[in-house]
Amino acid sequence: MLDNYNRSINYLRISVTDRCNLRCSYCMPEEGVTLLSHNEILSFEEIFEFTNIAVLKGINKVRITGGEPLVRKGISNLVKMLSSIDGIKDLSMTTNGILLSEFAEILKESGLHRINISMDTMNPEKFSVITRGGDLDKVKEGIAVAKKAGLNPIKINCVVNNNSSEPDAIAVKEYCKQNDLLVRFIPQMDLKLGHFAIVEGGDGGDCANCNRLRLTANGKIKPCLFNNKEIDIRTYGMENAIIEAIRQKPACGSLNEINHFNNIGG
Ligand code: 5AD
Ligand code: SF4
Repeated sequence: MLDNYNRSINYLRISVTDRCNLRCSYCMPEEGVTLLSHNEILSFEEIFEFTNIAVLKGINKVRITGGEPLVRKGISNLVKMLSSIDGIKDLSMTTNGILLSEFAEILKESGLHRINISMDTMNPEKFSVITRGGDLDKVKEGIAVAKKAGLNPIKINCVVNNNSSEPDAIAVKEYCKQNDLLVRFIPQMDLKLGHFAIVEGGDGGDCANCNRLRLTANGKIKPCLFNNKEIDIRTYGMENAIIEAIRQKPACGSLNEINHFNNIGG
């Protein structure tokens, strides 16, 4: 479907949980955030029904995000459900990689095409500081298993302060080159201050060419990451909510004062 600025909206990002097994300093406060209750979180059936309708409206690319999607119980069942939908040409997931060595195989078998993994530094101590306790070796192990499982391509998301000439970014780039991984550099964003930028090696942050809708873990469509607007699919009805979200998609992002990254998956 085309929006009011003639952008074709074909990409849906689905946050399946607001929970995470890490606490990255740029994403979550150390103590965590108020978590959604079980009733608020969309069931797999609701996500499946919504995605089917979204595909009828022109979505052909779907990404599963979080929080951390691999902490949602039975996540591979959702992957199986979504991969059965005709019309999805690209089914991917963004994960922090900590649990990936356990899940890569079953995700591939369930029909996931490819995966993005967050890795901001190759220094284990620094990784543990940024993520407040994460184990870099687990992520590397996850990458190796994902490769063996045939998830392809594997893309690394590297959050940078400014650009890819910082030492940590250079090290990540080198690791990716040696291990046959794609990499994209994401300037650290601040939703509340409206700080965002075009992503190097990716397609985020480019308002004029934005093709996305986001579905939050509690069933609200966000037409834009950098905007407060949310449309509740349970109140509006799924089809109406999609039409309304596309109609209300702003020309360009500005401020989002109400969300944390953990509920909307970046
Ligand atoms: N700025 C930029 N990227 C962020 N992410 C999370 N918070 C931020 C932020 N403040 C990224 C993570 C992950 C993806 C889900 O979003 O690094 O790769
Ligand atoms: Fe978790 Fe990803 Fe947020 Fe880090 S950036 S705390 S891994 S959701």
